[in-house]
Amino acid sequence: MTGFSVKDLLSADDIDEADLADVLSRAAAIADGAAPDKTGAKMIGLFFEQESTRTRIGFDVAASRLGHHVVDVSASPGSRLGKAQGEDLEDHIRTISEYCDLIVARTQHVATVEEMARLTHLPVINGGNGIGEHPTQALVDLFTMQRRLGDVRQLSVALSCDPTARHALSFMKLLRLCPPKRFTLCLAPETKLSNVAAAVIDDLRQNGTIIDRVDNVEGALNHDVLSIQTQNASSIISGRIGDTDAAQHVEDEKFTLTAEKILRLQSKTMILNPLPRHSETDKSCDSLPNAAYFEQVRLSVPIRMAVLSRMLAGRRWAGRSRLHLQPGWPATSSPISSSLSPSVSSS
Ligand code: CP
Repeated sequence: MTGFSVKDLLSADDIDEADLADVLSRAAAIADGAAPDKTGAKMIGLFFEQESTRTRIGFDVAASRLGHHVVDVSASPGSRLGKAQGEDLEDHIRTISEYCDLIVARTQHVATVEEMARLTHLPVINGGNGIGEHPTQALVDLFTMQRRLGDVRQLSVALSCDPTARHALSFMKLLRLCPPKRFTLCLAPETKLSNVAAAVIDDLRQNGTIIDRVDNVEGALNHDVLSIQTQNASSIISGRIGDTDAAQHVEDEKFTLTAEKILRLQSKTMILNPLPRHSETDKSCDSLPNAAYFEQVRLSVPIRMAVLSRMLAGRRWAGRSRLHLQPGWPATSSPISSSLSPSVSSS
């Protein structure tokens, strides 16, 4: 902890060891049946510019279970945001700040969620910002690993995915707080890491994790955990692959997980997938004990309840997210504002 702290959860960088332990223990208590703290009904604004099933509904359900209310504050057909006779993001955020107590945002562009956080005194949760990050998904992933397998520091973990995908980057960043024994990237040989991903992996190495790389999913099936998603994840999220092409995309056979591969290798590897799945996780895997992806969906509710209850009680995060705007952070500019101040919201 540096003494600096932030109201918002925008990146896995905002979370330190104490924050992580706090969220995981709150979530474990809730998952084990403890009554969550109820502090009076609050209003949660959901601002979603991109499609979402799990994050949007998961936060809605988590808020309801805590006794709170949810209101859709997105640019819906009935909203004035972005309309010719309407208003800009600043006035929209200032307005909804008068109605809500916290905002959960999924944005098309990396910088928009940062901008929203600067425009409001309310705490803001990043529910996925373009090709940026998805910190609550990473919390769900770690919680699922811990619930099934115990201390993450004792595990071998593989990641078969585009390493610049938002959930993958947040996952790797969060692993730095509990470095596993071994971390293996499953990638095509020609795939290059971004500067940010390479720096995160260097951090893991310096903290004692053995770093490895394989070029097919079978090479990851001797690990305790495999987190898998399509190798095209960030192209699909950013829209560089259109909807039709994304729907028709067939994963390279080397990166496609099937029950046949798991059974042939007698693998006990726990399979995580943030979902939605593409063809990288064949449905034949679903009935095997390895599959943990719908368990992730279930455990996402106590995690989101833990995050909401902590933030609505005014608890801040360690706040290393200032690092976002250092060189190497994806520089996609928001269409709403091209003038980003170098500091991250920290009220
Ligand atoms: N894992 C995840 O973020 O799913 P959604 O896109 O459905 O929210």
